[in-house]
Amino acid sequence: MKTVIKNISELIQVEETTKKWVAGSDMAQLQTIKDAFVEMEGGIITAFGSMDEWSGIDNWNNTEIIDADDGMVFPSYCDSHTHLVFAASRENEFVDRIKGLSYEEIAKKGGGILNSALKLQNTSEEELLAGALQRANEIMMMGTGAVEIKSGYGLTVNDELKMLRVIKKLKEISPLTIKATFLGAHALPQEYKGNKEAYMDLVINEMLPQVREEGLAEYIDIFCEDGYFDLADTERLLAAASQYNLTPKTHVNQFNIIGGVQASVKYGALSVDHLELMNDADIEALQETDCMPTLLPSCSFFLGIPYGPARKMIQAGLPVALASDYNPGSTPSGNMNFVASLGCIQLKMTPEEVINATTINTAYALGASDELGSIAIGKKANLFITKPMPSYAYLPYAFGHNQIETIIVNGKIQNK
Ligand code: NIG
Ligand code: FE
Repeated sequence: MKTVIKNISELIQVEETTKKWVAGSDMAQLQTIKDAFVEMEGGIITAFGSMDEWSGIDNWNNTEIIDADDGMVFPSYCDSHTHLVFAASRENEFVDRIKGLSYEEIAKKGGGILNSALKLQNTSEEELLAGALQRANEIMMMGTGAVEIKSGYGLTVNDELKMLRVIKKLKEISPLTIKATFLGAHALPQEYKGNKEAYMDLVINEMLPQVREEGLAEYIDIFCEDGYFDLADTERLLAAASQYNLTPKTHVNQFNIIGGVQASVKYGALSVDHLELMNDADIEALQETDCMPTLLPSCSFFLGIPYGPARKMIQAGLPVALASDYNPGSTPSGNMNFVASLGCIQLKMTPEEVINATTINTAYALGASDELGSIAIGKKANLFITKPMPSYAYLPYAFGHNQIETIIVNGKIQNK
């Protein structure tokens, strides 16, 4: 069955030849086609162009026509950083923050990641899967077509494996493209207080081999931060993970600069994420590497912490990706439309830069830029059709509104 979307007022982020990412001043460039069509078959994009180039329908019995009615078509968002498997929300901490406590203070008194871990340890795999599936569907309906999901709320051998098995099942039942990241080193469990080495031993000697043996993760992550895991822990874990072919995608520079960027680059990180704080040495360390710097502006928004220096990074010639960080503690939202709006409003990125940062660059940051992140022949037909809009800048401009009308993932309409 062939599907054709016709009468597209503007087809966004088209590529004749695919590229790995866009960086520096190229981020301001966005290729589009006005008055366009897209054709797909077997879940793959097979043709696109302007309506006058469309050859029409050769077999009416084998073709589904979707009239975009002057809406625009975008490639789906790729969300390269989430923690969407969790057991319970944490609005009590949100209220504590309103009253003046900081994220770090809440964590110190037993809230934060350890709070989520306690809840997750007491929740069955089935219940976790049901919650995660609901969230996966929720983000799909907001335009996301691919997502990276981390473990890190288990913090015991069994519970970390339980989380990763949930992600593995989700891969089977959700139409989204999903990548899994092992984040056993997310926070130090209470019972290991004063004995961090023993917990690192557990992560490296017990968890890692099982994660690998069951093929449960593509990537390795660590929360490299004061009060969590230091540079030596980070180096040790990433060195061990490289033996298992797990590529780093790390949490670094959220509250403090402790050398996490350099350590991640040294071990061939696919991305370094958060980067609320970045000094010149960090920016330099990322130049001429294959590592995608990834900012999470919804986390800055929700916690009231600094926004990463996107402009400075782009000016230095780096690529920038924007992801959601969807999790119950620091970012209870997986809405990439809001991420895009914050990219413009707070990071001072242009709409073109933001569209690049949430599609092709996040596709790279989740290891899928050859199959996602743009409208290109041979890529997956993951895209969305908007309501008619005066220009593509209207999408991040109209924050809080829903412009998306039709969601297509693997070539199939998901919201009929
Ligand atoms: O990316 N910073 C570390 N991890 C998460 C938050 C986890 C939580 O608070 O539950 C983040 O912000
Ligand atoms: Fe995170």
